Amino acid sequence: MTTPVPASPDASACPYSKVAAEFNPFIDPYLGQPYEFLSRARAEEPVFYSPEIDYYVVTKFDDIRKVFRNTRSFSAEIALEPLMPLWESSIQKVIEAGYIPGPVLVNEDEPIHMQRRKRIGGRFDAHRIEELEPRIRKIVTDYLDRFVRRGHADLVDDYVWEIPALVIFMFMGVPDEEASLVKQFAARRTLFTWGRPTESEQNQLVEEVGTYWKYCVQHVTRLKQNPGDDFMSDVIRAAEEDPELFDDVYLYNTMLNFLFAGHETTTNASGNAFRTLLENREAWDQLCADPSLIPNAVEEILRYQSSVIAWRRRATEETTIGGVTVPEGANVLLVLGSGNHDEAVFENADAFDIHRDDAYKHLSFGFGTHMCMGASLARLEMRVILEELTRRLPHARLVPNQRFAYSPNTSFRGPEHVLIEWDPAENPMPEDRP
Ligand code: HEM
Repeated sequence: MTTPVPASPDASACPYSKVAAEFNPFIDPYLGQPYEFLSRARAEEPVFYSPEIDYYVVTKFDDIRKVFRNTRSFSAEIALEPLMPLWESSIQKVIEAGYIPGPVLVNEDEPIHMQRRKRIGGRFDAHRIEELEPRIRKIVTDYLDRFVRRGHADLVDDYVWEIPALVIFMFMGVPDEEASLVKQFAARRTLFTWGRPTESEQNQLVEEVGTYWKYCVQHVTRLKQNPGDDFMSDVIRAAEEDPELFDDVYLYNTMLNFLFAGHETTTNASGNAFRTLLENREAWDQLCADPSLIPNAVEEILRYQSSVIAWRRRATEETTIGGVTVPEGANVLLVLGSGNHDEAVFENADAFDIHRDDAYKHLSFGFGTHMCMGASLARLEMRVILEELTRRLPHARLVPNQRFAYSPNTSFRGPEHVLIEWDPAENPMPEDRP
């Protein structure tokens, strides 16, 4: 672990500020309501050192962008490292599980990162992603069909828990009957990498991540023997043509991490969309009346309730962020969700406004060379998910007095359940009525 260094040079009496002392991303109030704290942090101490997690926490939009831009002083290598150091017993279990964590775009630095990204990124181009719309709409419709006549549903469990997984399976060349298995792997992986498990929890998580790894190795092996028209087969072909650029461990890690990146984020983003829109009924009603408002509403949801609320970098040299000296080797937590609520950039930033014309400037997909490769896919999925829901269940309401729970981790944020109810006899589509 890096030696803690006080964030504020004049904090002599107590090494850590009040802001730092209050920061605990794993429990309430931050876990349920991070934005009040983040607003105070931006005003009082926009960059602070958190002894709780041994990270410099960066909360202002401009500072976050500067860190993303400065690829010389800030490395992405930390992106997938477990937030908390592994226990000795867990390291042993990682070895036993045969899991070999390695580079995979998101945790690579230049120049190799861009060489690889350019080599394999073609299938993520926006116009190729658009071609997937009919298949995505079919998946979305199938899920809605299952509960539209029921009169109550959990929009996470019943609707968006599996849809983004099925989409990414199609994209990666993996059979879709294993969606729920991979969803479980992914939820456990979030806690393993971005949570704060106890020793026994970590040991258990390592075993499960080990099973997920074996699953990925199996599918890469299958696709090597029988490549198809999918992203993973593209990477396998690139590896055959260019073995210097990609080895087998790279392929396995790509499978594991792209499967993860492709759905956990989008399930959470959709959950945030439902909660936010149904709590802001006027906005919901406007989308039901005019679906052409949905694409901008998606941007505003990503800004207002970021599903990746924080991302990480490591300082490669002593440097300053927002006037605070950050030593070489320090860990840096960029709170994207806080940048998205920065009044210096977004007018009336704490208000949810689906008509906001600069919502797209949000940092929820990162910024710079590593900016999310799946952004077009995520936007398309969220649009179709909302188009179908607003069209078929415009009269749905949140079940009153429900408590929204969030997974205790620093980075991935979305409600675990969103319960709704409606009268199926009033469904607007006659074929949807009981
Ligand atoms: C709402 C959904 C999503 C959000 C909020 C999101 C957010 C992010 C963020 C914050 C980063 C890190 C950027 C950085 O380091 O600067 C990232 C990278 C990445 N995301 Fe996403 N993501 C989403 C959906 C997806 C999907 C559907 C995929 C499809 C596989 C995907 C694939 C990737 C990849 C491959 C990278 C690494 C790119 C690179 O390092 O060059 N993401 N994403």
